[in-house]
Amino acid sequence: MISKFSQKIINNELPNELDWNEHLLDAHKQSPSMTPKAFAKYFTDEGLNSYDILAKTLPQQIKLQNSKNITIVDLACGDGFLIHSIFKYTNNNINNKNNNLKIFGFDMSDSELNVAINNIKDPRVHFQNSKANSLPLANQSIDYILCHMAFMLMLPIEPVVAEISRILKPTGSFSAVIGRYDLKTIYTDIIKQVYTPILSKYPKLREFKSGDPRVATLSGLQSLFTKELGFNKVEQLTPIDLNIITDAEGVWNLSKDMYDFWILSHLEKEDLKTNLINVCKKYEDKNKIIKFIFPMNLITIQKTS
Ligand SMILES: C[S@@+](CC[C@H](N)C(=O)[O-])C[C@H]1O[C@@H](n2cnc3c(N)ncnc32)[C@H](O)[C@@H]1O
Repeated sequence: MISKFSQKIINNELPNELDWNEHLLDAHKQSPSMTPKAFAKYFTDEGLNSYDILAKTLPQQIKLQNSKNITIVDLACGDGFLIHSIFKYTNNNINNKNNNLKIFGFDMSDSELNVAINNIKDPRVHFQNSKANSLPLANQSIDYILCHMAFMLMLPIEPVVAEISRILKPTGSFSAVIGRYDLKTIYTDIIKQVYTPILSKYPKLREFKSGDPRVATLSGLQSLFTKELGFNKVEQLTPIDLNIITDAEGVWNLSKDMYDFWILSHLEKEDLKTNLINVCKKYEDKNKIIKFIFPMNLITIQKTS
């Protein structure tokens, strides 16, 4: 069974936001843990992966507020991979359970949550199926919301921003690692070459916006996180440059779960892989290694206290 999103793209019809959300669920059902499998093994010059970078937005504040109860939401937590980094950077390890930390992991995918529940058994962590626009939390009850590589996928985005505003305490903050699309790299070159034939075959893929474009720019984010919703001005997008050093198979592993590729039949996906491995040859060094930067952005937005 293919998703309604895939069916519509194949029939040259434009999918809607509901179809997109179902398509995400379908992809994560077939390939849970796809995000940490793709990204967690790659590091910046400072030796941090993107999960660590996001979790590192926390610890100083948490140490300062050590006597208080701290509540953190991992929004669209997937298989819960970020929570290991949260423990690491808040000096809360698995043997140190007598503390005041509470973490909620929310995601709309049961397949991802099942992995999370099996992987992380800790009284401080509570996982629940919930969409980001309707979280089972009281007004002004959360200190920090973190979101790794998911905010840019959420459609529609305004109700999610309103929900973030509703649950954050007046002193709270929202930090997210999001995609970054302004940099031309070897990787964008490779993907362009294998993706262009797919876009020609399925033109509605080009037309459908798989996420709200405002999330990709500073001015767009400023227009979403407004003073009226109780946010301080979004000041900057902080670039994260992951150093990818891998072979052609590694480039495939980084790319194979791109949501658009889930519309392809098994045979089309095999062809895509062959094509990508061939394209990679142009970029390999004599040891068949390919090096490039995978760009992401970090945003942190404070509530106005
Ligand atoms: C690319 S994965 C990232 C998972 C995890 N944050 C990580 O980085 O390992 C995107 C996740 O966002 C979830 N998701 C997307 N839109 C959502 C929404 N509106 N509400 C809740 N979860 C959502 C998907 O189910 C999926 O688990």
